[in-house]
Amino acid sequence: MTFSLDPADPAFARDPYPFYAALRAAGPATRVRLANGTSAWLVTGHRQVRAALADPRFSNVPKPNAGRARAGCPADPARAALARHMLNTDGPDHRRLRHLAVAAFTPRRVDAMADRIRQLTDTVLAGLSDRLHRDGTADLVDDFAFPLPVLVIGEVLGVPERDRADLRTWTYQVGSPADALPAGTTERAWGRLHAYFDQLIADKRRAPGEDLFSSLVHAAEPDALDRDDLLAMAFLLLFAGYETTMNLLASASLALLTDPGELAAARDGGPDRWAAVIEETLRHGSPLEGATWRRTTEDVDLGSDTVIPAGSSVLVVLAAANRDPEVYPDPDRFSPDRYLPGTDRAPGHVAFGHGPHVCLGARLARLEAQLALPRLFDALPTLRLAADPADLPYRPGLLVRGPRRLPVRPA
Ligand code: HEM
Repeated sequence: MTFSLDPADPAFARDPYPFYAALRAAGPATRVRLANGTSAWLVTGHRQVRAALADPRFSNVPKPNAGRARAGCPADPARAALARHMLNTDGPDHRRLRHLAVAAFTPRRVDAMADRIRQLTDTVLAGLSDRLHRDGTADLVDDFAFPLPVLVIGEVLGVPERDRADLRTWTYQVGSPADALPAGTTERAWGRLHAYFDQLIADKRRAPGEDLFSSLVHAAEPDALDRDDLLAMAFLLLFAGYETTMNLLASASLALLTDPGELAAARDGGPDRWAAVIEETLRHGSPLEGATWRRTTEDVDLGSDTVIPAGSSVLVVLAAANRDPEVYPDPDRFSPDRYLPGTDRAPGHVAFGHGPHVCLGARLARLEAQLALPRLFDALPTLRLAADPADLPYRPGLLVRGPRRLPVRPA
């Protein structure tokens, strides 16, 4: 059977799970024809997804020339810099970049950010409250789930307070579909981010701060990062860290706003209950729908008569693995109980990936959500969704997953 898919279809964006269930039933990996005329192999079962993410025959290195800069386009130097990041590398190249970053992201240093995250959350919530008072309504994506992770990444990168508003604006602009903003805005924002990070690196070289990025700039190792590595790292931290965490915060808020019983249980339940809400949102919502694209370096035999030929594009679908009924009974139900401490706790999800590229920011993302979500619902206990959940738009595409808008109002 041949499967076809239009990733831009709004109905697929809102609910891709029936399609993934059909693929999972068809075999360990399935060739899918995409609307742009190309085809890709999708891996969807929990076991197969974990195996693929740990298998060096699934390479992260993009095709030669991908992301190469062309003259005259303000976005291209930034895109070319971004293309060099560690998620696009394998083996020793990857280990070199990752090893330095792991040394900066120690649990102790991440946990030490808790007070700053609380303060940043309060700043964001003050803005959200103002908007609710002024307009009677607000958007939990634009006014909460988006600004907080961007501010936190600003903290990681040591962006001075006075520049945070610019960082927020440019990030918003590069993350928006090109046709949603006046012509050229997205391209110019890429150029500005690139120039800004370049200057930031020069400033940190001269005067390191307490931030995690300063320790990368000053890593005293023989294979320390050069300017281009650091530019790529700054872009990677921004893009790997903000949209994913935004989707986690938005999907958790949506799940709780549509389930008053779960919201009440979370508010009465303390940190373990909130941690369970966050784990279940990661499983059920999969903020990163697919891992980054892989390419097979040789024919890969997955059994059941399935061989992925060498040179194939492969999408390892985290969202599908996280709803595999062989691992999670009643997988489409949002049920934080699965992740309460105890012996029958559900197996770990793959929302943060698996294997050599497993998420470097998982601890930070969990900390942010653990601090911000209870504060949101404590500060605004009467918050209600102001839209039919079935009508909420989701971002099209196969890589990220979360509602694009969450209109809310006080009861
Ligand atoms: C809910 C939030 C997040 C989710 C769901 C998430 C998910 C993931 C996943 C699935 C991967 C592996 C991708 C692949 O194998 O292709 C990954 C990698 C990565 N993430 Fe996250 N992430 C989150 C937040 C963050 C944050 C806050 C940061 C840092 C500030 C971060 C930094 C990274 C980096 C640097 C990598 C690349 C690691 C490598 O290539 O070795 N992530 N993330």
